[in-house]
Amino acid sequence: MCGLARLLLRRAAEDCTVATATATRPYDDTIVKMFLWAAVIFGAVGMLVGVILALQLAYWPANLGLEFTTFGRLRPLHTNAVIFAFTGNFIFAGVYYSMQRLLKTRMFHDLLSQAHFWGWQLIIVSAVITLPLGITQGKEYAELAWPIDIAIAVVWVVFAVNFFGTIAIRKVKHLYVAIWFYMSMVITIAVLHITNSLAMPATLFRSYPVFAGMTDGLVQWWYGHNAVGFLLTTPILGLMYYFVPKAAGRPVYSYRLSIVHFWALVFLYIWAGPHHLLYSALPDWAQTLGMVFSVILIAPSWGGMLNGLLTLRGAWDKLRTDPILKFWVVAVSFYGMSTFEGPMMSIRAVNSLSHYTDWTIGHVHSGALGWVGMAAFAIIYWLVPRLWGRRLFSVGWATAHFWLATIGIVIYVVSMWTAGITQGLMWRAIDEAGQLAWPNFMATVEQLMPFYWLRFFGGTMYLVGTLLMVVNMVQTIRSGEAMDTNLAAPAVAK
Ligand code: HEM
Ligand code: HEM
Repeated sequence: MCGLARLLLRRAAEDCTVATATATRPYDDTIVKMFLWAAVIFGAVGMLVGVILALQLAYWPANLGLEFTTFGRLRPLHTNAVIFAFTGNFIFAGVYYSMQRLLKTRMFHDLLSQAHFWGWQLIIVSAVITLPLGITQGKEYAELAWPIDIAIAVVWVVFAVNFFGTIAIRKVKHLYVAIWFYMSMVITIAVLHITNSLAMPATLFRSYPVFAGMTDGLVQWWYGHNAVGFLLTTPILGLMYYFVPKAAGRPVYSYRLSIVHFWALVFLYIWAGPHHLLYSALPDWAQTLGMVFSVILIAPSWGGMLNGLLTLRGAWDKLRTDPILKFWVVAVSFYGMSTFEGPMMSIRAVNSLSHYTDWTIGHVHSGALGWVGMAAFAIIYWLVPRLWGRRLFSVGWATAHFWLATIGIVIYVVSMWTAGITQGLMWRAIDEAGQLAWPNFMATVEQLMPFYWLRFFGGTMYLVGTLLMVVNMVQTIRSGEAMDTNLAAPAVAK
């Protein structure tokens, strides 16, 4: 009894400190709004470039005959825009919002938050200028020229100081599991980016990597795979652990499972990179290691998926009316789908069919559009009413966005799976004389045209949904009905 009373007294004292602290230093939501706007604007642009690329693959004159708008120049623009500008900015918005609330303190330093924001946007603008000009290091997802690489490292360190500074000045002792997931991003991305960018500058925009040959390839795909792991996956899982319980109005299904999920995932992810280099000059044992770790990755990934979905136990009825929960359910389901498909594609025999084909593109976009995109939309629809203190302008539009995006993804992904398997089977088909049945590469490409048009159609639906969200967001801010920002549920519907 005595112990309980002491605990309650301590809690009350803690709450008192928290209340005083947040009153004197209220949360910095301006920075969250800035990152959110940047995510939405760059997201729409990045997806538009994706749709243009999809059109170019179906209808080559869409290259416009200009060197700046050819597929080879626009493709890295698309990947950089959607990964670093759209995904990066929405993750920062979610992290800055949830972190302050979880740790009951304002961010460590406003100046660092602002430097992080403007530095990151400057990097994105540099990418938008240099990539169409053909200035590239030729490493996928790490194309940017060496001076921009240095800027990325500096801005990331600014973010890291702000992040760990906030943890240091926190008003609560416990670090909720979401913070651990964010932490894995902050540390790992710094290590990956710096290691993979080590290069000897030759001119202002040209440099030579310090690693050579297969070692360079291995470092690049250790980076590439873990960029997926620690930018497109772990921070968003952290956001899932914060925003899904909020949206469902229920605690996370199993906190213990979330801890096991975290440690198992971060331990396993970092070894799986060699699955990008199967059948290459990489030693066989290293390829096998990558394959084995990738297959084991199913376990923590599905543990996380189930933990997310089961958090909705008892709240499934809300799915009928709440678009935010709809987005979350599809996001988490696609996470489960792509983390089943990925390990399958890591098996050598399967990879011998899927590699170099559109199957990989299908896998990428089931993760990117399904998991990353839908989670981003759920978080944006959650944050906008609360940040601006206005009810969502139109729940109907948000629901229409949900269906456009969901059907768009299915069309995109199914058409790419079909194209990929068709392509792979044609390349390995042999006629009665033992000769290649399809020796003419272009003849195989012609077979894929219907699927490329379908992908263009699905991608356009996804883009239209995103634009609808932007209009809904603007209308909410301009003319949405005022609401109490502390209300948990009724932000989307009266
Ligand atoms: C409207 C939405 C989108 C469309 C129409 C689209 C379309 C495309 C196209 C046509 C390609 C080139 C495929 C090829 O080279 O054969 C591509 C590549 C890629 N896209 Fe998208 N995309 C969209 C959204 C996104 C989003 C939101 C993300 C990430 C969050 C993303 C990540 C990627 C990545 C990583 C690649 C490179 C894949 C690889 O090298 O295997 N895309 N996209
Ligand atoms: C357990 C989880 C996963 C595993 C084991 C896995 C495995 C794989 C494999 C084997 C490839 C094809 C490599 C090749 O043939 O070149 C691949 C490609 C890719 N995956 Fe995954 N995947 C996983 C989850 C995800 C998720 C959730 C996303 C997105 C959010 C994603 C994004 C990508 C991207 C962008 C590529 C294309 C890389 C390139 O440019 O070639 N993966 N993945």
